[in-house]
Amino acid sequence: MTAPGLSRRQALRLLGGGALAAASATAGLTAAAGCAALPTNTPDPRLLPSDAPLPRPFATPLPRVATLEPVRTDATTDYYDLPLRVAEQEIIPGLRTPIWGYAGQFPGPTIEARSGRRIVVRQRNDLPVPAVTHLHGGRTPPASDGYPTDLLLPARGGFASHASHMTDERADVVRGVRRYEYPLDQRAATLWYHDHRMDFTGPAVWRGLAGFCVVRDDEEDALPLPRGDKDVPLLISDRSFAEDGTLLYPALDAEVREQPGVMKAYGGGVLGDVVLVNGAPWPELEVSRSRYRFRVLNASNARRYVLRLAPRSRDGAELGSDELRGEARIVQIGTDGGLLERPWPRTEIALASGERADVIIDFSAYPIGATVVLANVAGDGPAGQVMRFRVTGEEADDTAVPSRLSQVERLDPARARVTRDFRFESGEVHGHTGWRINGKPFDPARMDARPRLGATEIWRLTTDAAHPIHLHLAHFQVLSIDGERAEDPVAWKDTVDLGAVQTAEIAVRFGGYRGRYAFHCHNLEHEDMAMMANFEVI
Ligand code: C2O
Ligand code: CU
Ligand code: CU
Repeated sequence: MTAPGLSRRQALRLLGGGALAAASATAGLTAAAGCAALPTNTPDPRLLPSDAPLPRPFATPLPRVATLEPVRTDATTDYYDLPLRVAEQEIIPGLRTPIWGYAGQFPGPTIEARSGRRIVVRQRNDLPVPAVTHLHGGRTPPASDGYPTDLLLPARGGFASHASHMTDERADVVRGVRRYEYPLDQRAATLWYHDHRMDFTGPAVWRGLAGFCVVRDDEEDALPLPRGDKDVPLLISDRSFAEDGTLLYPALDAEVREQPGVMKAYGGGVLGDVVLVNGAPWPELEVSRSRYRFRVLNASNARRYVLRLAPRSRDGAELGSDELRGEARIVQIGTDGGLLERPWPRTEIALASGERADVIIDFSAYPIGATVVLANVAGDGPAGQVMRFRVTGEEADDTAVPSRLSQVERLDPARARVTRDFRFESGEVHGHTGWRINGKPFDPARMDARPRLGATEIWRLTTDAAHPIHLHLAHFQVLSIDGERAEDPVAWKDTVDLGAVQTAEIAVRFGGYRGRYAFHCHNLEHEDMAMMANFEVI
């Protein structure tokens, strides 16, 4: 998955692509006050085409992600072992793909957790590179939050503790094994864990280092929502494959060891042409005519999806809404930070990298034999589809979507004492084109904000290109986008999907813990190319 790993054909395509990318790069804006006067290039994410023939869509059953069993439990805590290993997986039928996986699996096994019940996850790094795990959406003390320089060096040796090109005096670097402790003092929500190694998160997640952590609580358990095998996490990610099944990735350093970054044409982000759900290409799930809950995660490096249902009858004819029972076909019940107050009927759901949507689909709207494609209207060609449901039978259904799901506190912006501005733009980073926040590349030694513990602040986030912006620790509510008050229901978020040349105002509450945390763009190529900054809760 490297420059040397690219075929000749691939390399030629890349060379040709460089000029194309330069030509199609949109001129940067200088709208925000204080912005550099020179126009900058803001390259879009770019497709890396596979050399392997693309697999046939809907030919693979949707994999059920394994649940991680605790190795021990006591009155307060569940203890887990989650080693990081090199493994091989059959992703494209008939081909073997080397991966880096938690427990040697992609996606990593799902951690089933309870709100308020602590978990301790012991990780041993058997990869050839350093790693650091972050629980995305977790309210976690800083020592376990997976700060990008808190490296877990390979157990087998190599990589001196000062290997990072940027020294960070506060970095907590260990070799071999680390114990991450998560209090999970937070409401029920769909979290996910993934690698967060400074400068190398993109290639590490691309190789497979990501998995779910589902937090449940009593409030949610009391609701009559679908559960058990009808509560299905869906991890969506796009990848590209070499002819032999190896993952392609345009890393400058074949081994992802020393030199960070991707080939210039991919500076806007890497897109794959194979859409995987739970690690399988365009899978199919057989469903009965009943309700299902799907916890949808966009775990892609740089691809944004706009999901819609496209139903067809048994003989392949498109099914219009008048032929279906019931109107809204997707009902969103939750976001990054857990349940909404009320169900929210949607015709489509946009998900940028890092975001989650918790949805109910009631397949009783469709006749037996119908197929329902989960389409991606933001993608062309093969990326225009994600997976397919096939309605195969009847089943008694005693579930319901209650009109009231939860109580969602509304943050009061009038009570915020501090407003901060952050501009997310391309710019020069150590002599190369990269991505910056307020004109500065990531530097672990610089503190960009010092919010007080428990305070609510207003953060104004401005973009040049599309940037999904994620804060560690602090959950927030979107107040407005481009000055227009959000009409969406009040929701807890940890990642906000911003398009090009937008400004979002968010109300952020810095609850939880004191200490240093990162915030960054969740386009992983942008993140690796320095679009990250720090806040210290004081
Ligand atoms: Cu999902 Cu700091 O990342
Ligand atoms: Cu996070
Ligand atoms: Cu970005």
